[in-house]
Amino acid sequence: MAEHTQLIDAINIRTAVRAYDDEPIDDDTARQLEMALQPINLLGDLNIQLVRDQPKVFAEANASGHLTNAANYLAIVGPANDEEAKERAGFYAERMVLTATLRGLGTLWVAGSWDKAEAAKHCRVTSGQELYLGVVIGHPKNHLDYQAKSYEELCEAQRTHRATKTYEQFTATMSDEGREAAPDWFKSGVEAAMKAPSAMNRQPITFSYNPADDTAAAHIDQSAEDEHHAFNDMGIAKLHFQIGAGQGQWAWGDGGLFIHK
Ligand SMILES: Cc1cc2nc3c(=O)[nH]c(=O)nc-3n(C[C@H](O)[C@H](O)[C@H](O)COP(=O)(O)O)c2cc1C
Repeated sequence: MAEHTQLIDAINIRTAVRAYDDEPIDDDTARQLEMALQPINLLGDLNIQLVRDQPKVFAEANASGHLTNAANYLAIVGPANDEEAKERAGFYAERMVLTATLRGLGTLWVAGSWDKAEAAKHCRVTSGQELYLGVVIGHPKNHLDYQAKSYEELCEAQRTHRATKTYEQFTATMSDEGREAAPDWFKSGVEAAMKAPSAMNRQPITFSYNPADDTAAAHIDQSAEDEHHAFNDMGIAKLHFQIGAGQGQWAWGDGGLFIHK
C-alpha cells in the first residue's frame, strides 16, 4: 500500500467496497479525515460531515447481506434545490473518497442502500440545506490482507471488477479522426473518468475535445437515464478527468469546458 501516494493512484485502485471489517475508524484517522474535509467544504460551499458508528443507518442493507458492517459515512450536505451544488458535491466528495482510498479505507457512494432519514438525525442539516447522498467509509473486510496487496494487484482488481462503457462510448460525439488527433491529456482524462463511480454504473457523462480552442467539454448523456444523480455523477467524472489530465480546471455545468494548463 505504501507505494501509492498520488490521486491518480487512488483512481487506479478504487472500487466500490460493500463489505467492511467490524472495526471502528479511530480518532486519529477521523481527525485527519475531518482536516481534509475543511478546505473541501470551503471550496465547494458544502457541509460534508463524517459520522461514525451509526450502524442503524445501514441496518437493512447489512441484514440483507447487500452490505457487511457498514457503520460510518460521509453525509453529503449542501444547499437545497441547487443542481450545480450537486455537481460540486460529486466533485468534492469524490475528492474525499480518493483521500480515504490513499489511507487504505474503503468507500461506497449510497443513494438507496441506507436509511436516509436515520442518517439525517446524526448530522447537521440547517434550513436551506439538504442531505443529498452518503458515502460509506470504513476498513475493507480483511483489511490486513487488503493492505498487503501490491499496487499492481489492486490496479488489476479495479480494471476487471466491473463492466465499463468503452472509450468510444465515452467520446460518442467525436469522429474517429477527432479521437486520433486529441492530445494525450484528453485521452488520460477520459480514461480516469471511465474508472469513476456512478449511480448503478450508468456512466452518464460523455467528453469531447475541441481542437479549435484546445478545450474539452463534459455532457450529460440523457440516454443513460441517470436523471436523479446525473449532476452528482458529472461532478465525480469531472474530478477524475481533471486528475487524469494533469493540470487544468473545469467550468461547472452540463457542457462546461475544461481548460488544460
Ligand atoms: C450517486 C451514487 C449512488 C450510489 N448508490 C448506491 C447504492 O445505493 N447502493 C450500492 O450498492 N451502490 C451504490 N453506488 C455505487 C455504484 O453502484 C458503483 O459506483 C458503480 O457500480 C461502479 O462501480 P465502482 O464504484 O466499483 O467503480 C452508487 C454510486 C453513486 C455514484
